[in-house]
Amino acid sequence: MNEIKNKFKTSIAGFQLHNYLFNASGPRCMTLEELIALGESRSSVILSKSCTLLPREGNPEPRYFDLPLGSINSMGLPNLGYKKYVEFAPLLRRYNKPYFVSVSGLSLADNITMISELSEVPEIDAFELNLSCPNVIGKPQIGYDFEQTKQVLDEVMKITKKPFGVKLPPYFDFVHFEEMAKILNKHNIAFVTCINSIGNGLFVDADTEKAVIKPKGGFGGLGGEYVKPTALANVKKFYELLRKDIAIIGVGGIASGMDAFEFLLCGASAVQIATAYQKEGTAVFARIEKEFIEFLEKKEYNSLSEAKGKLKIYE
Ligand SMILES: Cc1cc2nc3c(=O)[nH]c(=O)nc-3n(C[C@H](O)[C@H](O)[C@H](O)COP(=O)(O)O)c2cc1C
Repeated sequence: MNEIKNKFKTSIAGFQLHNYLFNASGPRCMTLEELIALGESRSSVILSKSCTLLPREGNPEPRYFDLPLGSINSMGLPNLGYKKYVEFAPLLRRYNKPYFVSVSGLSLADNITMISELSEVPEIDAFELNLSCPNVIGKPQIGYDFEQTKQVLDEVMKITKKPFGVKLPPYFDFVHFEEMAKILNKHNIAFVTCINSIGNGLFVDADTEKAVIKPKGGFGGLGGEYVKPTALANVKKFYELLRKDIAIIGVGGIASGMDAFEFLLCGASAVQIATAYQKEGTAVFARIEKEFIEFLEKKEYNSLSEAKGKLKIYE
C-alpha cells in the first residue's frame, strides 16, 4: 500500500506532501488541541485557522449550521490571535508535515505586522493570505477589489521571503478571472487556494419560519456540495490563466475520493476540506485518501500528473 501511496504524492510551495489532501482554514484548526489532532491525522499539512492581530471571539451563536448539502456560517473569524499560532509552531514540528498559517488581517497594517513576524519563525513553513475578508469599511472584501488586492500583494512581497499563497473568494465572471489572474501572475506567489465560501447565502427553516444562523440577519457563507461546481470552475479557470509555477489548491464541496479526482482533472495540485471535516472529524482525511487512491488505481493511473488538468471538453 505504501508503494501505491508514494505514486500519488504531491508538492506545494516546494514541500513534499504525503498525500493530496489537507484541512481548509476554518473548521477545527483554531486551538493547539485541534492542530495536534491534524498532526496526528492523514491531513498532509497542518493549516491554522485564519488569524488576526488580536484574539477574536467571533459572532454570536448560532453561527454555523449543517445543511443537507453542506453548511452555512458566519463565524466572524474567531481565533486566538496570531501570536498563539507563532507559539504553537515548534510544538507541531514533531508531526513531520508542513505547518501553514492562514493570515486574515483586518487592515493592510495588520497584515504587514503579522506577516513580518510570521516570516521570522523557522517552524512556520508558509502562509495563506485570506483575501476573502473585509479590509476597508465601505469597500468589498479584498478579493473583490482588484486595486486593493494589488496593493496588499505589493506590500507583502516586500516583507517576506517565505513562500505564500492567497485564498480567493469565488469569481463568476470571465473578466474578473482574467483581471485577478493578471495581478497574481505579476507577484511571487507559490499557490492559490480557491474557493472560499460562496458569500451571503440565506437558509430558511420553513417550519420555524426563521433563518438558521443569527449573525447578519441570517446571511452567511455557503460550503459543501452546494459550492462544488463553482469551486471546480474557479480551479479550472485559474489553471488556464495562471503561470504554471503557481500551484492551485482546490477547496469546495470535497467529501469523497471522486470529488478530489474531479479537482485533479481541473488542475488542482492538492485539495482542502472544510465542511466535510467539520461534520466528520479527522477520520475524513484517511477515508478520502483511501477512496481517492482506490479511484486512481481503478482507472489505472500511475501518477497524479497523468490526470492533472486533463479534463475533456466537447470540441
Ligand atoms: C465553519 C467554517 C469556518 C471557516 N473559516 C474560514 C477561515 O477562517 N478562513 C478561510 O480562509 N476560510 C474559512 N472557511 C472557508 C473554508 O475554508 C472553505 O473555503 C469553504 O468552506 C469551502 O469548502 P467546503 O465546501 O469544504 O466547506 C470556513 C468555512 C467554514 C465552514
